[in-house]
Amino acid sequence: MMELPELQEQIGQIKQDLDQQLPNLSAHDVLESFRVEFLGRKGRITQLFKQMGTLEPGARGEAGRLINELKDHATVCFEERDKLRQSEVRRQALVADRLDVSLPGSQHALGCLHPMTLVQREIEAIFMKMGFDVATGPEIETEYYNFEALNIPADHPARADWDTFYIEGDRLLRPHTSPVQIRVMEQSEPPVRIICPGRCYRRDTQDATHSPVFHQVELLWIEEGLSLAHLKHVLELFTQEFFGEGYEMLFSGDFFPFTEPSVQVHIKAPGATNWMEIMGAGMVDPAVLSNVGYDAEKYTGFAFGLGIERMAMLRYGIDDIRAFLTNDLRFIRQFS
Ligand code: DAH
Repeated sequence: MMELPELQEQIGQIKQDLDQQLPNLSAHDVLESFRVEFLGRKGRITQLFKQMGTLEPGARGEAGRLINELKDHATVCFEERDKLRQSEVRRQALVADRLDVSLPGSQHALGCLHPMTLVQREIEAIFMKMGFDVATGPEIETEYYNFEALNIPADHPARADWDTFYIEGDRLLRPHTSPVQIRVMEQSEPPVRIICPGRCYRRDTQDATHSPVFHQVELLWIEEGLSLAHLKHVLELFTQEFFGEGYEMLFSGDFFPFTEPSVQVHIKAPGATNWMEIMGAGMVDPAVLSNVGYDAEKYTGFAFGLGIERMAMLRYGIDDIRAFLTNDLRFIRQFS
C-alpha cells in the first residue's frame, strides 16, 4: 500500500523536472521528447494514474485531483510551447521568403528585329497597301517550277545562272523566288496580284556583294490590259515610299527567259551621280502564261525580282553583305 504523501512527493518531483525543462522547449524534437516523457502512453504522469490503485480508497480522490492538475499543467506547457514553435517556423519561412524590393531587378536581354526582317516587313507593307497579297513557296523546289515552267528548258544557257545546290533527283534549293509565280498562277485565275518574299540559294562564292544564301521579293501582277507603263508606275510608287522623294528611275534592256521584254531597273538618289541597279523585271512571257493554262491572248502582266539584302544595304549604308549572316549583336542592334 502506497501512502498519499509518497505520491505527492512523486508529483512534486515530476513537476520540478517538468518546469526545469520548460526554457529549452523550442526545437521540435526536444518538445516531442518532453511530450513522450510526461504525457505519452508510458509517460511519467500516465504511470502516476496507474499507481493510484495501490492507494487507500479514501486517498484516491485527492490523488486523482492532484495528478490531473499536474497533467493539465504539463498539457498547457506543451501546447503553449508548440504554438510558439509553430509561429517561429512560419516566421522563419517568411524571412527566408522575403523580397527585397530595393534590389536592382534582374536584367532580361531584349531582342530586336534583324535589319533584314525590318526591311522585308517594310517592303511587304508598301505592296500590301497597293493591294498585293503575300504568297510563299517551298525553298526546296523541283526543276519544273524553278526552270521549265519559267521557260528555261534544260539545254538553255540561262539555266547555268541559276543551277544551284541539288538535293536529290530533280529537287534543288531554289535559286530565285520566281517559281512561286507558277505555283500561285496554277492555283488561281487572273487577276493575280502577289508578292513573295523568301530565301534563295546560289553557288556564289561569298564576297562583299555575294552570298550563297540571300533573300528576294518576287512580284507578279496578271490582269487584262497591263503594260510596262503599269510596272513603271508601281516601281515609282515603291521607290518613293521606300527611299523617299526625288529619286530618278531608269530601265535598261536585259534578258530573262520568263519575261519579254526584260529590263534592269536602276535608281539614282537626288543629287547623286551613280545609278544603282535594284532589280530585274519585265512583262511576263506569254509562254509562261500558257504553261499555267492562262489565255496569253487575253492576259498580260509584269513581274520583278528584288534582292532584299541590296535594299537593306542601300537603306542603311551597309557595304558588306556578309554582315547580315555573322550574328554579331553589335551590328544587329544598330537598326531597331
Ligand atoms: N528571278 C530573277 C533572278 O533571280 C529575277 C527576276 C527577273 C524576277 C525578272 C522576275 C522578273 O520576276 O520578271 O535573277
